[in-house]
Amino acid sequence: MEKSLVKRENWGSRIGFIMAAAGSAVGLGNIWRFPYLLGENGGAAFLLIYLAFVVFIGVSIMIAEFAVGRKSSRAAVGAYKSHSQNWTFAGVLGVLSAFFIMGFYPVVGGWSAAYVAKSFTGLLSNPEAIGDVFGGFITGSTQPLVWMLIFMLFNVVIVAKGIAGGIEKAGKILMPVLFGLLVLIAVRSLTLPGAAAGLSYMFKPDFSAVTGQTFLAALGQAFFSLSLGMGCMITYGSYLNKKEDLVSNATLVTGMDLGVALLAGIAMFPAIFAFGMEPAVGPGLVFVVIPSVFAAMGGIGMLLSIIFFVALTVAALTSSVSLMEVAVAYFIDERGMERKKAVYSVSSAMAVLCVLSSLSMGAMSGVTVFGVGFFDFFDILTDKIFLAIGGLLLAIFVGWFLDKEELKQELTNGGTVKFALFEAWYTLIKYVIPVAIAIVAVAGIRSIAQ
Ligand code: PFF
Repeated sequence: MEKSLVKRENWGSRIGFIMAAAGSAVGLGNIWRFPYLLGENGGAAFLLIYLAFVVFIGVSIMIAEFAVGRKSSRAAVGAYKSHSQNWTFAGVLGVLSAFFIMGFYPVVGGWSAAYVAKSFTGLLSNPEAIGDVFGGFITGSTQPLVWMLIFMLFNVVIVAKGIAGGIEKAGKILMPVLFGLLVLIAVRSLTLPGAAAGLSYMFKPDFSAVTGQTFLAALGQAFFSLSLGMGCMITYGSYLNKKEDLVSNATLVTGMDLGVALLAGIAMFPAIFAFGMEPAVGPGLVFVVIPSVFAAMGGIGMLLSIIFFVALTVAALTSSVSLMEVAVAYFIDERGMERKKAVYSVSSAMAVLCVLSSLSMGAMSGVTVFGVGFFDFFDILTDKIFLAIGGLLLAIFVGWFLDKEELKQELTNGGTVKFALFEAWYTLIKYVIPVAIAIVAVAGIRSIAQ
C-alpha cells in the first residue's frame, strides 16, 4: 500500500519542489567542501573550471535527470529499468553511490552538530586553540562517533516517516537563515584588514597549478554539489507535476546551489588571508575559519556561531535524507521491502561505513585502502569515479537511447512551454558531455596514478 501511495505523491507546490531539490543540492558540498577544494586546488583557476562545468554540464544533466524522472514517474533504478533491463545497472550504480557517500557524509554532519554544542561550551573563548580543538575532536574515538550516530538518527526518523513533514518546514526556515548568516559573515570577513588578498586568491586565476586532477576535482564537485549522477534528481523529478517547467526549475536550483557555494567562499577566503591562515588545510577549513571569524566578533559571535552550525546541520540533513532516500527507495521499489525495515537496514549499513570513516581520522589512520584512509576512499570513490560515470551513463542513455521528439515533448510540456535552447541542450547531452566527462575522467585518473 505504502508503495503505491508514495508513487502517486506529488509535490504540493512549485516552491515545495524547489525547496526540496535545492535542499538536496545545498549542503555540506557547498559550505564545507567547495571552499576547501578551492583552497587545495589553487583558488580562482579551480573556480573558473568549476563554473564552466556547472554551466555546460551541470544544468544540462539536471534537466535530463528531471525529464527522465518525470517521464517514467519512477525512482532511479525503475526509471532506467522501465526503458530496458539492460540499463538497470546504471540505476544500481547510483544506489551504490548513495551508500558510499553516506559512508562519510554523516560523519561531517556529526561534526557540524557537535559544533553547535561546542559553540556553547567555550570554543570561541580561546581563538588560538580553535584549530587544535578541531584536530583533537575529529581524531577522537568516541565523541565524533556519538555525534555521527545522533546525526544518522535524525535521518532515520525523517526518512522512516517520509520526507515531506518536518524536515521541509525546518528547511524552509533554516535555509534562508543560513543564507543570511553567510551574507553577514561575508561582510565581516570582507571588512577585516588584509581581506583583499583572499578575494584575489579566489578571483585572480593562476593556471600554473592546474593539472588533470584539478579538472576531475571540479567535475566531481559539480556533480556532488548539484546532487547529480546518482539518480537523486531523477527520483525528485518523478514526483513532479506535469505542468512544471523542468528547464526553469533546473536552472533555478543550479543557480541557488552555485550562489551558496560562492557566498561560502566569499565568507571564508578574505578571513583566511586576514588571519594569516593556510587556504589548503583541507576538510577542517569551515570548522576552523568560521569559528575564528565569530570569535573576533566578541559576545554576539557565540550566538551567531550556534545559529550558523544549527543551520549547517540542517542543510546537511536536507541533503543526507535525499541520499538515504535513494537507497531506501531502491529496497522498497525493487526488493519489495517495507519502508521502516528498509530504513533500518540501510542506515545500519551506512553507520558501519561511517564508523570506519570517522576512525580513519585517528585510531585507524594506519588502515588504508588503495593508499588512503576510509574517509578519503569513500569520498574519492564516489565523487571522482561513481558520480562522473553515473553522469556519463545518464547522458548516453538520454542522448542515444531515448527518443528525441519525446524528450522535446517532455521538456516543453507537450509544446506549451518554451525551451528555446533545446537543440543546444540535446547536442550537449548527446555529444559534448559524454566526450568531456570521458576526457576529464581519463586525464584525472592518469594524473592521480602518476
Ligand atoms: N548535494 C549535496 C551537497 O552538496 O552537500 C550532497 C549530495 C546529496 C550528493 C544528494 C548527491 C546526492 F544525491
